[in-house]
Amino acid sequence: RMSLTRKIQRINQLKQERNAVILVHNYQMPKIFHTVSDIVGDSLALAREAEKVDADVIVMAGVHFMAETAKLLNPNKTVLIPDTEAGCSLAESITPQDVLTLRNKYPGVPVITYVNTSAAVKAVSDICCTSGNAKKVVEALGVPRVIMIPDEYLAQNIAQQTNVEILTWKGHCQVHELIAPEDVEQMRQDHPNAAILAHPECPPEVTAAADFSGSTAEMSDFMDQKRAQNVILLTECSMSDNLAINHPDINFIRLCNLCPHMQRITIDNILDALENNRYEVNVDPSIAEPARLSIKRMLEI
Ligand code: 13P
Ligand code: SF4
Repeated sequence: RMSLTRKIQRINQLKQERNAVILVHNYQMPKIFHTVSDIVGDSLALAREAEKVDADVIVMAGVHFMAETAKLLNPNKTVLIPDTEAGCSLAESITPQDVLTLRNKYPGVPVITYVNTSAAVKAVSDICCTSGNAKKVVEALGVPRVIMIPDEYLAQNIAQQTNVEILTWKGHCQVHELIAPEDVEQMRQDHPNAAILAHPECPPEVTAAADFSGSTAEMSDFMDQKRAQNVILLTECSMSDNLAINHPDINFIRLCNLCPHMQRITIDNILDALENNRYEVNVDPSIAEPARLSIKRMLEI
């Protein structure tokens, strides 16, 4: 059996041979995040970097919708996802037909789609958003009412920050929906000096009980600015692990869950992806064009 060191060496060698880059989401385990990544970040950063990347092959060490986004922005490049089952409970919560039903019910109301959706859902939407730019996108449309799908909690959290009325859907992230306000109160009692940061996919009662709410990139910026010495990140566990490596001076206190979809990506299947060109992500041409448009509109804001 190959050692971990040897596997990482081989991945780096294959990256050169194939002119490949590995995009790694903040929720990947340190074993991946801190070893074979070329670009790391939140969903917005990965979408932006995917657009700029100068390579023949992109390996997405994230989940399927992220690989689809990379493919939409790089139609002429090979995009690989090391495990096709790396899904997302939010992406699974809504179909294109559901969106069309909403459009019929609320004619003329623009549909803002969180990037955590399939390309087919993006294709029937007006514009995308991420947790890092959702408020900006809502306000940029200049209308009094929008539909924001599929994350009910993200929509409710953004609704509290704007005068725009936001209609939503009933999708939830299976990692963040498990965090309860009572857990946060308990942590507050146990660690009164810690700053509590919540991802906006958490229920609104949870973000209300936290000190700060933001995307994974915004959490990362918070650490760069050294705004607290003790922190509790209400989000996926690997986020804290990755930041703890970069910030040995900050004490990370645990209240988190792992995402089983992110965890499907391993050093072994990244190696397999590069070695055997799998699994290629392609988007049906009939949906690629409108889906790309909804992402491009977001990136222009
Ligand atoms: P961000 O990295 O954009 O904050 O998204 C979090 C997430 O749950 C991605 O799957
Ligand atoms: Fe989807 Fe939540 Fe996992 Fe992100 S953490 S991929 S939103 S299930």
